[in-house]
Amino acid sequence: MSYRYIRCEKENGMGWIRMNRPDKLNALNAYVFNEIEKSLMDFEEDDKIKVIVISGNEKAFCAGADVDPMANADIVTAFKLTDQSQAVFKRLSLVGKPTIAAISGYALGGGLELALCCDFRIAAENAVFGFPEINLGLIPGGGGTQRLPRLVGEGRAMELILLGENINAQQAENWGLVNKVVPIENIEVECRKLANKLIEKSSIALRCAKNAIRTGGNVGIEDGLKIEQDAFCLLFGTVDQKEGIASFLEKRKPVFIGR
Ligand code: COA
Repeated sequence: MSYRYIRCEKENGMGWIRMNRPDKLNALNAYVFNEIEKSLMDFEEDDKIKVIVISGNEKAFCAGADVDPMANADIVTAFKLTDQSQAVFKRLSLVGKPTIAAISGYALGGGLELALCCDFRIAAENAVFGFPEINLGLIPGGGGTQRLPRLVGEGRAMELILLGENINAQQAENWGLVNKVVPIENIEVECRKLANKLIEKSSIALRCAKNAIRTGGNVGIEDGLKIEQDAFCLLFGTVDQKEGIASFLEKRKPVFIGR
């Protein structure tokens, strides 16, 4: 499938989404969201794709929602914009395969929300994170006020969202906003390394673990524990669980098939 604002590649079990709107620092508009959603659906369906990676270019992962259409937008248009962004971000955050954001340059507003929906964030040393919406008389509308505090805590989320000041990669790592900071020239290699570790695991177990963390994080502890228990027990019906235990007992490396 060919796209205008993203480039998609399938490479050794990885589904790669490269943001490709360089003249607007990869800003998100309705077409970009549409293309991201289509590519996610394609990667979701393709059993050969085990991990999804999203990246931008050296200057920008993504500088947020496209400000231009907002200039004359009314309340109804704003609802439509955020209906779409929230739906696509939700799809990304719940996709049944691990996701990695490879962030160099700006990850602002919707760009940070895009990264927050991924399971892992690997940042280049030049990465810049922030929610500048407050400086536009706005607030994040694609999940930022909900996903950021769940990841870094309320205090730090308040700092980023209410002040609208950016932080650098090192601070983002100190806050736990990113998993790792690497030199920009290593970012793709690091993401491939991480993806390959994930590809070796049981994809059905990864899916269950991710689902327990994501959905369990949004309910009370009792319901969360039940989600975990169901997922744990369900895995006893898989070939991979039998293989995992057998390989341990036979002191060999497991070979998982994702069933
Ligand atoms: N929406 C629309 N266009 C955007 C954009 C956005 N979120 N972010 C950048 N662009 C455009 C710029 O308008 C400029 O377009 P032009 O060449 O037609 O004038 C182009 O991308 C390059 O950006 P520019 O501002 O010239 O680069 P810079 O290096 O001087 O500054 C930023 C980079 C990220 C600091 C600056 O572009 C910026 O503040 N962007 C908006 C970030 C934002 O507020 N995001 C949240 C929106 S809700």
